[in-house]
Amino acid sequence: MIMSALPIITLPDPLLRKVSKPVETVDAELLKLADDMLETMYDAPGIGLAAVQVGVPKRLIVLDVSEDDDTPRPMTLINPEVLKIDGERTRMHEEGCLSIPDFRLEIERPASIVVGYLDREGKPQELPAEGLLATALQHEIDHLNGKLIIDFLSRLKRDIVVRKFKKMAREASA
Ligand code: NI
Repeated sequence: MIMSALPIITLPDPLLRKVSKPVETVDAELLKLADDMLETMYDAPGIGLAAVQVGVPKRLIVLDVSEDDDTPRPMTLINPEVLKIDGERTRMHEEGCLSIPDFRLEIERPASIVVGYLDREGKPQELPAEGLLATALQHEIDHLNGKLIIDFLSRLKRDIVVRKFKKMAREASA
């Protein structure tokens, strides 16, 4: 299988704010996109990527939260949704985003969730998730709803970050 890394769109690309459409058919083309997304994610490197970040607003995410010395554990989730938030426990994590380079933010999210999704065969699955996996899943599912980590900032601070990225984009295209 030939995989190729794809360009990742970054802030302030308006596509990042689009709500992604559900996948209707799990076919070879979609699985090829998932494989290219995994390649893109490993290449970056990152631990998660949503299809919209490579310019395809479909509800598809890939992740690998294995530690560096582990065997890779690539995951493909199609039409993922949080089915259940388990209990009141939360988890803090300093999150980054491949679409917001060189920006990190401490975010508090539910620590234990259950995610429903279709697997690569198009079969419905349920995944209980804790720890980093729970955090990463919520981050990627947010992307499918047009939500970014900067949305956890106050309006004022968010505007400052967005302005900085707009300025960089202008300079890059000048
Ligand atoms: Ni992200």
